[in-house]
Amino acid sequence: MIGFSRAAQTLECDGVPLPAIAEAVGTPVYVYSAAVLRERYRAIDGAFGGHPHRLHYALKANSTLALARTLRELGSAADANSIWEIEVARKAGFSPADIVFTGVGKSPAELECAVPLGLKAINVESVGELARVEAIAARLGLVARVALRVNPDIDAKSHPHISTGLKINKFGMPLDDVRGLFKTIGSRRSLALVAVHVHIGSQITTTEPLARAAALVAGLVKELGAAGIALEYVDLGGGLGISYDGRPVPSVEEYATALVGAVASTGLPIVVEPGRAIVGPSGTLVARVIDLKPRNADSQFAVLDAGMAELMRPALYNAYHGVEPVSMRPGSETQYELVGPICESADVVARDRMLTPLEVGDLVAIRDAGAYGSAMASNYNRHPLPAEVLVDNGEWRVIRRRQTTDDMTALET
Ligand code: LLP
Repeated sequence: MIGFSRAAQTLECDGVPLPAIAEAVGTPVYVYSAAVLRERYRAIDGAFGGHPHRLHYALKANSTLALARTLRELGSAADANSIWEIEVARKAGFSPADIVFTGVGKSPAELECAVPLGLKAINVESVGELARVEAIAARLGLVARVALRVNPDIDAKSHPHISTGLKINKFGMPLDDVRGLFKTIGSRRSLALVAVHVHIGSQITTTEPLARAAALVAGLVKELGAAGIALEYVDLGGGLGISYDGRPVPSVEEYATALVGAVASTGLPIVVEPGRAIVGPSGTLVARVIDLKPRNADSQFAVLDAGMAELMRPALYNAYHGVEPVSMRPGSETQYELVGPICESADVVARDRMLTPLEVGDLVAIRDAGAYGSAMASNYNRHPLPAEVLVDNGEWRVIRRRQTTDDMTALET
């Protein structure tokens, strides 16, 4: 059994007891299972079967170098959302030809750096951005490989903050704009159109909107074919959800089957950009209870040393993460409101949870925190960025040390 499981009363990661890591490194600490990371990558990769495909891991979910390198070693390519993610990708060993550059707002300086790199594609989000890419490429005497991101006006039925496929969302180009470009793009000598791209949101828990968006892309590919423009691949974005609370989500096979079914008739390879589905389940945030106090007749506050600075998702999206005591004490379950130490009432990690008794000093595990956990951490209230640990093959090592106050103030005068 890989990942996080209980031996006797104590939670372990791939056989390493979490208290051993917490004692050595302190808390809060993100702990990742390399075995789970590999298993998730291979499961998604394998689910596409014989259909030509490539996984471009979405670095935005978690780009800590050791994790990015682990995925690259498995054959992953990368999706980067800023020039800085591209630079981190390259530090992790990804070659430019294996990186797609996505993102709704690429600054002139970012494009100026990106165009000469020879990326697999710059996924452009507007008619204006396409012209800006073209102008840079023309000036440098290059041909920029581009994909057009279409806004399909499809509801991903996810949290509104992370749904991106509706017309009202800022992402991608309306169909009319995309079709308008088809007429001229073939003759624009500094641009090579290599793909159509769609990404309708994140934490999507039904395949139907994903399949619909993919079918719309397939339709556009055929229109382009009729206009004499052949693409290299279709880019169907990321978005596959994971189960945070035990409720069912599509299997990787259902996911891949839905996408392949929608675009198989184009004959083109599929690129997908999964983030959460790969790295989410591989990580747990280990925190310590620093205070307990009564909340109401039924429940107590458990104040943790980790909150919205370390894991922003509950405060930002009211997101659910499973929480469990690392070592279970005997006694009946009681209700806890697990809160962080930050000076905001939004800083609640988990509401109304029934847990075995907690005492001050106990460790708790906040599960499925590998994606958009450490990646979205901040220095709010001058919390240092937490340490990160990777457990691989029965051994563990620090892959990012805890930030110090000097690190934090190093850029300040
Ligand atoms: N491709 C593009 C263009 C994206 O914008 C994203 C995520 C992905 C791929 C990866 O999506 P995934 O497979 O991870 O769902 N902070 C939020 C999630 C924001 C997702 C942003 N874009 C959260 O914590 O739930």
